[in-house]
Amino acid sequence: MNVLDFYQKKEKQEKLSMVTCYDYTNAKILSQTSVDCLLVGDSVAMTMHGYKDTLAATLEMMTFHTAAVSRGAGDKFIVSDLPFLSYRKSLSKNVSAAQALIQAGAHAVKLENVSGNEIFIKHLTESGIPVMGHLGLTPQFINILGGHKVQGKNEESAAKIKEDARALQEAGCFAIVFECIPSLLAKEMTEQLYIPTIGIGAGPYTDGQVLVLQDLLGMTQDLKPKFVKHFSNGQEHMIQGIEAYVNAVQTGGFPKDEHCYRSE
Ligand code: KIV
Repeated sequence: MNVLDFYQKKEKQEKLSMVTCYDYTNAKILSQTSVDCLLVGDSVAMTMHGYKDTLAATLEMMTFHTAAVSRGAGDKFIVSDLPFLSYRKSLSKNVSAAQALIQAGAHAVKLENVSGNEIFIKHLTESGIPVMGHLGLTPQFINILGGHKVQGKNEESAAKIKEDARALQEAGCFAIVFECIPSLLAKEMTEQLYIPTIGIGAGPYTDGQVLVLQDLLGMTQDLKPKFVKHFSNGQEHMIQGIEAYVNAVQTGGFPKDEHCYRSE
């Protein structure tokens, strides 16, 4: 998969699949699947570090996790999130942030919203760095949005998302993530744009879907937004495995002869 395949898949009406990945072990597993794209999302701050939102993600955190994913991902296409405020400084500092992610192993970067980012996006694409946009519920803006809320529900807010999507395409983005917007708005934009749309909580009509790996595997049971589907009962499987280990340790079932070393 490379950036051109994103356009081709849209043209052929083949759905794109993207999942988040933050570490080497899961990247190795994902490299054995047919998933199209790995996203080192700034959701790493919540999923892996236990913060309450993505504002805690730093460039250091993102480069550290991107490098780990890159070591296990084989030939998977990797997109890394530019974290909160890392691309709202001078052009030179913004470019250094993108450079850090690319040099850690990402093939593209993702950023949220458009206003004030147009020149940066153009500069990156002209410098050889593909950029993925992100509209709708943009978690780096929760303090402006008043929380993790569905966006684009009224006419004015939908019109803004449409205008922003066209601006991102114009600026040179190769794809756009639409998060938590009405399905019909996502459908309209998917039909209008020539770049692919990837939805999370944006219904079935986008060119692709993205989910957080731990959510789709059912490892995060405490908070389940409406748009998440558990495709596996990961938490239960892990607990069962760990309990089996503890039981074997307690009852002398582990370790056995085959797990032991002998002196010469
Ligand atoms: O960080 C993330 O997980 C994301 C997805 C919600 C698209 O940006």
